[in-house]
Amino acid sequence: MSQLDASFETLLLHLKEHRGFDFTGYKRSSLTRRVNRRMAQVGVSDYAEYLDYLEVHTEEFTALFNTILINVTGFFRDAEAWEYLRAEIIPAMLAAKAPDEVLRVWSAGCASGEEAYTLAMILAEALGMDEFRQRVKIYATDVDEDGLTHARHATYDEQQVRAVPAALLERYFDQVGSRFSFHKDLRRSVIFGRNDLVQDAPISKIDLLVCRNALMYFNAEIQSRILSRLHFALAPTGVLFLGKAEMLLSHAEMFQPIDLKRRVFRKVPRPLPLNGAFLAEAPLPHARPPMGGLELLHHAALLASPLAQVVVTADGLIALCNRQAEALFGVSSRDVGRPFSDVVLSYRPVELRRYIEQAHAERRMVRVADIEYVRGSETLCLDIEISPLADSDAGLLGVILSFHDVTEPRRLREELQQTNRQLETAYEELQSTNEELETMNEELQSTVEELETTNEELQSTNEELETMNEELQSTNDELQAINDELRDRTSDLNQAKQFLETILTGLRAGVAVLDTDMRVLVWNRRAEDLWGLRQDEIVGQHFLNLDIGLPTQQLRPLIRRTLAGVTGPHEMVLSAINRRGRLILVRVAGSPLNGADGSAHGAILLMEQDSSAPPDGTGPELTEQQDGQPSPSALDSGLEAGLEAGLNAGGDTTTTD
Ligand SMILES: C[S@@+](CC[C@H](N)C(=O)[O-])C[C@H]1O[C@@H](n2cnc3c(N)ncnc32)[C@H](O)[C@@H]1O
Repeated sequence: MSQLDASFETLLLHLKEHRGFDFTGYKRSSLTRRVNRRMAQVGVSDYAEYLDYLEVHTEEFTALFNTILINVTGFFRDAEAWEYLRAEIIPAMLAAKAPDEVLRVWSAGCASGEEAYTLAMILAEALGMDEFRQRVKIYATDVDEDGLTHARHATYDEQQVRAVPAALLERYFDQVGSRFSFHKDLRRSVIFGRNDLVQDAPISKIDLLVCRNALMYFNAEIQSRILSRLHFALAPTGVLFLGKAEMLLSHAEMFQPIDLKRRVFRKVPRPLPLNGAFLAEAPLPHARPPMGGLELLHHAALLASPLAQVVVTADGLIALCNRQAEALFGVSSRDVGRPFSDVVLSYRPVELRRYIEQAHAERRMVRVADIEYVRGSETLCLDIEISPLADSDAGLLGVILSFHDVTEPRRLREELQQTNRQLETAYEELQSTNEELETMNEELQSTVEELETTNEELQSTNEELETMNEELQSTNDELQAINDELRDRTSDLNQAKQFLETILTGLRAGVAVLDTDMRVLVWNRRAEDLWGLRQDEIVGQHFLNLDIGLPTQQLRPLIRRTLAGVTGPHEMVLSAINRRGRLILVRVAGSPLNGADGSAHGAILLMEQDSSAPPDGTGPELTEQQDGQPSPSALDSGLEAGLEAGLNAGGDTTTTD
């Protein structure tokens, strides 16, 4: 056995011992193909590795089991054979039964149940529904639990019922959508169960045993074992219906064809004689035959017979032997008159004395078949007949031993049997390969369907993506346009800021722009010069809390009024200490900072050293000029315009950083 074969056998033994399923009796050709296929599916390349895989992945056994067991089946599979069964066998079977006698049927290896329901339909058609329910029991068995579950469910798709004739489909199935369920009340007569043809006891007293397309997966030895169980299962008049590839040519001792072409067989009630056994034939008539004086002629005829023959008298002496007997066994005319028990022939090649006694006692011919006799370098096969010889008064004269050389016929018979076996095996292999191909075809078809579905899904996803892409593209364009606009606006804003900066820097007055909470937004160069603090130190501070030479607290009322929108102008002259520590008079003018819509955004304070007022620090608050106009020195129209431009461009949070 090669290394490869040995590791395959180890795998099979492992499955038998640890998983309780015996695949060792399955034909290797198909079995290895199926196991290899499963191994390829899980990406394992040798049997030893696969054994490890099976031990680690406990669920793998089920997948392997399902891959190995080919479960191709169908309603009315091989329609012609089923038609023969329906038209010829079933009526004869029913006619042989008493009207209320039960009919027992067994579908062995029923797969997903189509075969069992086909039987149910045929029998219900023959008996009528009521009688069918009362008289028929269909046992349907398989080793595959998944198949049995499907079978019990009894629901099939359109494809699966396409071989059911339309009238039967209508009568025996309920259609729900595209699925067909076999009638529930008839289902009660079909009993499903697990039965392993190799290991389990058969069901008994079966009238019709249907075991199709299962035997062909087993080797010759297991086939013989299963067939003797099926033989046992059948009632004496039982009928066996096999699959197309199963001809039983080499099991004629158990089953004889009723119709070989349709694979329908009858049980042979008892086995034919086995090697070395004897078969007694009808007793000799006791009437005396009219002999006349023909002894001499008899003698001459015996001597000339092509068969080796020896005549032994009733008291056990050799009376005659012919030339063939001499050539074959060495007994010759010299031995005539000697006790037969003294010559070797009496016990070799077979103990003849007891058969002679039996022929004497029963007065009938006794035959001993298939006796091997080694003569020199050759082995002959002999059938020996021991015939009693009676005289005219039916008194016993002796026996005649006739030796038939059946070596050549036996060789031819064995050759024929061997050829038949080979033919059968080849046919079975062809058929099982065919079924494998059908299974693979179904698998491929479902893969194709899956791929088609995946393809459709991919296509629709693709279309969705294309749509999204287009949407993204247009969003992108919009964003681009917004971006361009923003860039333009930012550049406008920057220009406005620069412009404002220029104006603020160019003013002679210090400028502080406050928000509505009096926090400083703008602080120009002149304000820095006046009070010695830089813009970055001031911006964001509360104006009234500024620690500068200007007494900002005194400006609170002025700022409040300005913020409140009380009509101005609002001015004050205050004493202050400038950056250099000198006492100065400062004129502060407040103007409201309004947006384009007139809403208040804060206040603008202009701070200008007043050289006209005395620097006593107690100057009066100039709330308003007499003519209601702001002081030209305090209000700078350029500044206002600039600030307004800044507010309009950047909104109310524009800062000066
Ligand atoms: C190709 S199907 C034949 C189904 C059906 N008899 C037909 O001809 O349409 C072979 C069936 O034999 C079953 N089988 C294989 N080994 C078996 C065993 N040891 N005992 C019982 N059934 C077995 C399989 O499970 C499968 O359902």
